[in-house]
Amino acid sequence: GQLNVLAKLAGKKYFGSAVDNPALADLPYKRKLSDIAEFGQITASNTLKWETVEAVRGVYNFTGGDELVALAKKNHQLFRGHTCVWHSQLAPWVEAGNFGAKELTSIIEDHCSKIVGHYKGDIWDIVNEAFEDDGTFRKTVFYNTLGTEYFEIALRVAHKADPKTKLYINDYNVEGLNAKSDGYYNLIKALKAKKVPIDGLGVQGHLIVGRVPTTIRENFQRFADLGVDIAVTELDIRMELPVTPEKLEQQKKDYATVIRACKAVRRCVGVTIWDYTDKYSWIPGWFEGEGAALPWDEFTRAPLVSLLFGASY
Ligand code: XIL
Repeated sequence: GQLNVLAKLAGKKYFGSAVDNPALADLPYKRKLSDIAEFGQITASNTLKWETVEAVRGVYNFTGGDELVALAKKNHQLFRGHTCVWHSQLAPWVEAGNFGAKELTSIIEDHCSKIVGHYKGDIWDIVNEAFEDDGTFRKTVFYNTLGTEYFEIALRVAHKADPKTKLYINDYNVEGLNAKSDGYYNLIKALKAKKVPIDGLGVQGHLIVGRVPTTIRENFQRFADLGVDIAVTELDIRMELPVTPEKLEQQKKDYATVIRACKAVRRCVGVTIWDYTDKYSWIPGWFEGEGAALPWDEFTRAPLVSLLFGASY
């Protein structure tokens, strides 16, 4: 094991895991999550989403986030806040209100400044999943009301709330070179030209065994050349069940491909898996018939971990 140790030896800032608060009642799970040799960073996988943190306009619930930040602090781990502006798991009142541009702007400003300011997190995913796979902007309530202005609104207010936080925009299917990652490339270029604070691109990494893109390294490098960091933020590599030795073998190679790309690009700062054990993975609940996406299995054993990462990181 010792994934965080290996990541640091490779010059990265951390190896991390997402966590959802209910899992912390599982003490062996919590103990492993708290091991700094394995995980130097944790991400809140649900509790800081809009529907939870501001379910009622102007009423903030920081209970779950506070629990995770306290745990990270105690463990000497970095904390990643996830996420300010996202169309999914959004509080229904944000869409139902049919707000005009001016009011939606102040709603975003209040939301992002309150949560980023409360946590003074080390890292934040400020905007999540803003593009379609074809490289066009996703037609969310934010885009439909404010156009591309909303990126700037959210990033500027977050930076003001905590100038030290690293600000990311984050999405899936942007691992390799494609129309969607081109969209982010152009967006980040435009934001930088306008001096909007943006520190990095978060590449989620929800991948499928045997179908990992071959251009990850080139893609990471072009963002690095643009002057931003890259982080793999939600890595899991799922397979169709049942598990077979062949699929596990391919999965090992696929994890190594992603890790190697991050290792090869200096500005790829770290890798976070979307929880560390299949016991708490979101995959079986969201992708029918699929699973076994994480390095640890349901029993919190890690038969493959050292092979997965030890040789390759
Ligand atoms: C997932 C959580 O893991 C689930 O528990 C929840 O039911 C749905 O969301 N992209 C993201 C994450 O940015 O927030 C999502 O997390 C997974 C896909």
